[in-house]
Amino acid sequence: MNQEKFRGIKITGTGSYSPPLKVANSDLADILDTSDEWIISRTGIKNRYYNEGRPNYLMAVKAAELALKSAETNASDIDYILFSTSTPDFIYPITACLIQNVIHAENAACLDISSACTGFVAGLDMARGLLYSGYNKILFVASECLTQHTDFTDRASCVLFGDGAGAVVLERAETEKIFTSYLRVKGVSPDKPVLYYKVEYEFNCPFEDKTYKKPAEYGKRLQMDGKEVYKFAVEAMTEAASAVCGKTGLTADDIDLYIPHQANIRIIQTAVKALGIPPEKVYINIEEHGNISSACMPVALDELSKAGKLKAGMKICFAGFGAGLTYGAVIMEI
Ligand code: UT7
Repeated sequence: MNQEKFRGIKITGTGSYSPPLKVANSDLADILDTSDEWIISRTGIKNRYYNEGRPNYLMAVKAAELALKSAETNASDIDYILFSTSTPDFIYPITACLIQNVIHAENAACLDISSACTGFVAGLDMARGLLYSGYNKILFVASECLTQHTDFTDRASCVLFGDGAGAVVLERAETEKIFTSYLRVKGVSPDKPVLYYKVEYEFNCPFEDKTYKKPAEYGKRLQMDGKEVYKFAVEAMTEAASAVCGKTGLTADDIDLYIPHQANIRIIQTAVKALGIPPEKVYINIEEHGNISSACMPVALDELSKAGKLKAGMKICFAGFGAGLTYGAVIMEI
């Protein structure tokens, strides 16, 4: 028997935060050549929330504090803060350190991970490893302020994204529980990374006359080849979810709840159909939040928890994809 797959983890608390400004499709139609009908029919999105230029780490702190409260845990009991984002306020220090300082988690090690929209899936896998290497209580936060990077003149991408944060407190399971992951990357050329945001910097070397080479043009703000991402996403979600089931020895029928990355309802519906997962087992919140990258899944967990829909023993499949092009899935028995 494969013992490794029974080294499970449990979720002891959840929290989430959406900034106050709710932006409906009709608000975007007031400033762009778009319509409520186009956005809903092509993406499934009705609303999203904007952080209006405030720092991302403050959203992360709000979700973290709520997760600690729901876990009835003091910040000083946390021995690791794992943080996922593609939209940090600083390149350094990492955001996990900012959270550690604000919530007074004085006993916590800190690490940021950056795996775009696959960040929560990758982070769950990493958290499991950390818990079995000796850490006891992990605060895992994902917070995304995508409007920092959004190009509001590009109607094909700006209507998709929103801001928000989610957090979970994780511990080792006391009894055998299933946990299996499958993580992969479909490589992209650094010259044309398909879905990207290039850091802007000004070269200031004093020897610039001798060595300066003009950097390649990447365009400003978030850049995306929507059709290419769409095609990749359907294949990636299907491959990852069926591979992780195969590794675990489960079929789609054995999964109680499927939490996919919320990028486009049509991507989710096509992947779910290919996998033979009944729609009632699939959690969808894209209508309300838009795409909030790696924060989608912990926000979903918090919504499910508040609705009393997370039951001990449930097998949850998380499947995601994003820039990189990263993709993967986790099956976790809670
Ligand atoms: O976390 C991962 C992040 N990214 C994604 O997941 C993106 C994946 N891709 C997608 O979700 C879809 O490709 C989009 C939603 C981005 C686009 O949907 P589509 O059905 O692939 O539309 P399209 O690109 O084929 O465009 C169809 C038409 C075009 O007009 P013409 O050329 O047919 O006249 C676009 O210019 O729709 C137009 N269009 C819009 N019209 C109204 C594009 N964006 C908009 C818009 N409102 N916001």
